[in-house]
Amino acid sequence: MLGVLRLRRLVRQVPLQTSFIFLFLLCVLSVFLSSYFLFVVKRELEPSLAAGHAVGDLYVTPSRPLPFLSGVGGTLSSDGSRTDPVVLVFVESPYSQLGQEIVAILESARFRYRTEISPGKGDMPTLMDGQRGRFVLIVYENILKYVNMDAWNRELLDRYCIEFGVGMISFFKANENSLLSAQLKGFPLFLHSNLGLMDCTVNPKSPLLHVTRARQVFNGPLPGDDWTVFQSNHSTYEPVLLAKTRSAESTGLIHTSVVQDLGLHDGIQRVLFGHNLSFWLHKLVFVDALSFLTTKRLSLSLERFILVDIDDIFVGKEGTRMKVADVKALVETQNELRRSIPGFTFNLGFSGKFFHAGTDEEDRGDDLLLSYADEFWWFPHMWSHMQPHGFHNQSVLAEQMMLNRRFAEDHSIPTHLGYAVAPHHSGVYPVHIQLYEAWKRVWDIRVTSTEEYPHLKPARFRRGFIHRGIRVLPRQTCGLFTHTIFHKEYPGGPQELERIIDGGELFLTVLLNPISIFMTHLSNYGNDCLGLFTFKRLLNFLLTWTHLKLQTLPPLQLGNKYFQLFPSDAEPLWQDPCEDKRHKDIWSKEKTCDRFPKLLLIGPQKTGATALYLFLGMHPDLSSNYPSKETFEEIQFFSGHNYQRGIDWYMEYFPLPSNSGSDYYFEKSASYFDSDVAAVRAAALLPRAKIITVLSDPVDRAYAWYQVHTTPFTSDQLTFFINKALKQTHILWRRIFASYRMFSSPFYTFFFPQMMFCRFDPKKGFWCHLLDGGKTTCLGKSKGQRYADMDIQSQVFLRNYYRDANIQLSKLLYKTGQVLPGWLREDLLNIR
Ligand code: A3P
Repeated sequence: MLGVLRLRRLVRQVPLQTSFIFLFLLCVLSVFLSSYFLFVVKRELEPSLAAGHAVGDLYVTPSRPLPFLSGVGGTLSSDGSRTDPVVLVFVESPYSQLGQEIVAILESARFRYRTEISPGKGDMPTLMDGQRGRFVLIVYENILKYVNMDAWNRELLDRYCIEFGVGMISFFKANENSLLSAQLKGFPLFLHSNLGLMDCTVNPKSPLLHVTRARQVFNGPLPGDDWTVFQSNHSTYEPVLLAKTRSAESTGLIHTSVVQDLGLHDGIQRVLFGHNLSFWLHKLVFVDALSFLTTKRLSLSLERFILVDIDDIFVGKEGTRMKVADVKALVETQNELRRSIPGFTFNLGFSGKFFHAGTDEEDRGDDLLLSYADEFWWFPHMWSHMQPHGFHNQSVLAEQMMLNRRFAEDHSIPTHLGYAVAPHHSGVYPVHIQLYEAWKRVWDIRVTSTEEYPHLKPARFRRGFIHRGIRVLPRQTCGLFTHTIFHKEYPGGPQELERIIDGGELFLTVLLNPISIFMTHLSNYGNDCLGLFTFKRLLNFLLTWTHLKLQTLPPLQLGNKYFQLFPSDAEPLWQDPCEDKRHKDIWSKEKTCDRFPKLLLIGPQKTGATALYLFLGMHPDLSSNYPSKETFEEIQFFSGHNYQRGIDWYMEYFPLPSNSGSDYYFEKSASYFDSDVAAVRAAALLPRAKIITVLSDPVDRAYAWYQVHTTPFTSDQLTFFINKALKQTHILWRRIFASYRMFSSPFYTFFFPQMMFCRFDPKKGFWCHLLDGGKTTCLGKSKGQRYADMDIQSQVFLRNYYRDANIQLSKLLYKTGQVLPGWLREDLLNIR
């Protein structure tokens, strides 16, 4: 107080002029301080000479071997089996571009994943299933969603990552609101955003490189001017990709645009991208990051097999066919490609009828091609380029094939490969039974390929299958079609073809498929020889940027290789031919897709499904299937060996649609409920079918089973019986105690809202069919029996046994807006 009074007195004594000078000095000081913070401090956040690397120094970028931390935290689990091989992807929205690109890569590589919309607050998906981690890797489309997560969930996720050795990939995509320079919240990492970058290089010492080869500089601007670069002094950060800024003043400095966090900061390994995946090199590095962060559990080998089919080698209009020089170029290019792909051989598909159908010059090309016959592999199409499904008689089809065979023999064309291709995308299996039989008879064909299974698009889902002893391999397109003949007339311009090859679709096809069979056509090898240009350029690009080991195999061996790699593809999935116009076009005219059911009642057993099935069948708008003699009246198509009998067999169980009757068909097979394979198959054939299941109290269900099946165990207590039954591997025993946990499968739950024409029969104790005159007719003695009350010990045991599954079921029903059955509501009330 005294000090303040003295100061006031002093101020009054100071003359006015001195006060002004004092005030002026204060102003100068504040301006100085502001500019210091505005310019000097901000400068420190920008990439400095010390933080960047001169381009020439790139190949000596300091690098550390991956540290090994003992104990739980820090390193990836070496046994790799404490987590399921599933990637958890946090996307911004179901439609976000980057999210879709991430998912497309995972799907192409056949890696399992689950997407979640990044929660703003709360709602982290369950990370563990008992002692097991449910995810092997976390991907964040937007890293800000991770760093800004509420503390509780952040702690949960980080602990999970540390304890299970789970890594994280994330992306930072600046927008107009992003700060130009900022520290990543909670990390010793600085971000500088909204930059234009150019001349990208891969850090050759980066530990995550596997497929990516670090040899070249990607010259020129990187797409977009909203890049973020990373800067840190912490030893946990290791550059993966480096690039220069495009602005003139920063020449000579390179910055980190993709950074790897080795886990030294908080025990979690990460890879952080300063942009999305629109730059192709990011896709390549993303694939390597998946492999590295999952200790190669989600990794493709370096082997890639390539086969190039040239379809219709004699089928082409005058002016589009190969001349002598083109044939020579084909042989030369083949030899050139063989230097990097040992034994590479073009695979030529022929229809003999069109031999010598060009100009004289082109006919000389045909002659030269045949003189080189032994240089190539050959495979037959139809003799006259007809579509095999146009034939209704198998003998006529075989005769046509014989003509082609004789042509091959007359011209010494080697045809020992056991490979054939049907023209016009018609390699779809359900309608090709007669094609397959004719192929086998005439040519001994054992392998073919198609771009149509399950559908033409999207290409990443194309699969192989084995049908009637013939291996059908997926076929890829490569940007070339019959009409792409001239470089300058390529749709979108020549640069579009180059884009497809240099890091685009064609590159990605090879990157993500261990085996690629490419479809090209004769016309791609005449005129500008775009086929040769494409594959030479592709090879050059692959050798420059990847460590892929390129190989080839003749089709039969390739077929064996494919099913060694993907044994689960072997069994074909039946699809509704009317779901795809191309498939419909080759579907028999006499058949109708209206003969498939629109509703499946999937059980499970002992839930009253039979009663519901009968009651539904009474509805005038619904028709049930004809009863099967083999399997307790149920068709059991999707769950067992009946599936191999095919869709024609299945359709026979339903009446031919007529105008008078109802064509809303349904079937009930209780074996579907706990069969994963049934769910997948049903979803493929009947994608829009309604699914009904009856969720009666599982405790009552188990008890009913016990009552009926106790013959060998009569003296046993229920708990003893259950424990014994649970150890059985036999499917029937597992079904008895099937809980509703499996409802995360593709089957959806529907409750039939009301029973019609039924009445509760007090004597029977169940609902029965109400007849005219008020009487009821009930199910036979074997259904709806009366049992003695269950003892308390067994009740408690069963309630506990089903508890977790019931809680999960209630969450699912709640999420999908379904009504909870009464028993479940009661059960939840009793859970403490
Ligand atoms: P019990 O026969 O052991 O009493 P499902 O047909 O799915 O195998 O189910 C048979 C069970 O359905 C019967 O088991 C019974 O509990 C139950 N149920 C439900 N409604 C019924 C009805 N109207 N008539 C007979 N049983 C019925």
